[in-house]
Amino acid sequence: MINKDKKYLVMGLLDANSIAYAIGEKIKSFGAEVVYTVQNEKLKQYFFDRSENLSDTQKNSVNIEFCDVTDKNEVKNLFDKIGQINGLVHSIAYANPMTCLGDVFRCDVVEDIKKSFHISCLSLATAASYAQPNMADGGSIVTLTFDSRHAYGFYNWMGINKSALEALVRALARNYGKNQIRVNAVSAGPVFTQAASHIPGFSQLCAQWAQICPIPWDPKTDKGEIANLCAFLLGEFSKKITGQTIFVDGGASVIGGRMFDHEKAE
Ligand SMILES: NC(=O)c1ccc[n+]([C@@H]2O[C@H](COP(=O)([O-])OP(=O)(O)OC[C@H]3O[C@@H](n4cnc5c(N)ncnc54)[C@H](O)[C@@H]3O)[C@@H](O)[C@H]2O)c1
Repeated sequence: MINKDKKYLVMGLLDANSIAYAIGEKIKSFGAEVVYTVQNEKLKQYFFDRSENLSDTQKNSVNIEFCDVTDKNEVKNLFDKIGQINGLVHSIAYANPMTCLGDVFRCDVVEDIKKSFHISCLSLATAASYAQPNMADGGSIVTLTFDSRHAYGFYNWMGINKSALEALVRALARNYGKNQIRVNAVSAGPVFTQAASHIPGFSQLCAQWAQICPIPWDPKTDKGEIANLCAFLLGEFSKKITGQTIFVDGGASVIGGRMFDHEKAE
């Protein structure tokens, strides 16, 4: 799947619960090298302070750089510093929970909406543009999305950002095909992380997920399944797959209505 002599950049680490961490550690399990990014120096300390479930050895094995994706110079400096890579994971999103998520769908908060789009969507294109020269032998870019084919309660502008992100994945796949760079999105079922904790109604969403999954989905433990799909998309077995949004969600995205009791796993 992933060769041990490869190097990957995983952007969007916050703590040991981050999807980025599950992906990075999965990549490392194949023997490949991983460089993570956090948003800034303060958040590097946050990773060490808030990842109580990790041993000191585990914490110290994490190679961390800084990058605020809204600052083009920081993105450029990051890629200048890390050199050649074989793949990039973009596991980054943000929307002000007070204005862009919640029970009121607001359109008067233009600056907040623009900021959420910049961080959650446009930043993938920025990262890809600086990553391209660092992928001389081609490579694979993977971003994280959440089912944008349905409108979920409270998710508001983030749902729109995710829809745009999936369209961007197709555009980037087309643009970078000539460079042998593939671009795909992983559409994940809900899992408990810091970002998720800011989404109003997230616990209800998880409860609802349990009603619509043909295969049981555990928001506490299924991050590893998201990481497995990312590893597949980053590695050799998916080398003709690009521009796709692939779901790892227990099958919830294809179900009409709820699962009946007789259809559920024992
Ligand atoms: N948690 C879920 O249920 C779920 C489901 C599907 C998709 N996703 C997506 O997975 C990705 C990772 O989220 P997560 O759930 O692991 O949460 P998380 O809070 O661990 O990660 C979000 C990351 O985005 C980073 N970020 C925000 N603004 C940034 C900026 N300006 N510059 C650089 N980094 C910035 C944060 O610092 C953080 O590291 C997001 O795209 C999210 O939408 C999450």
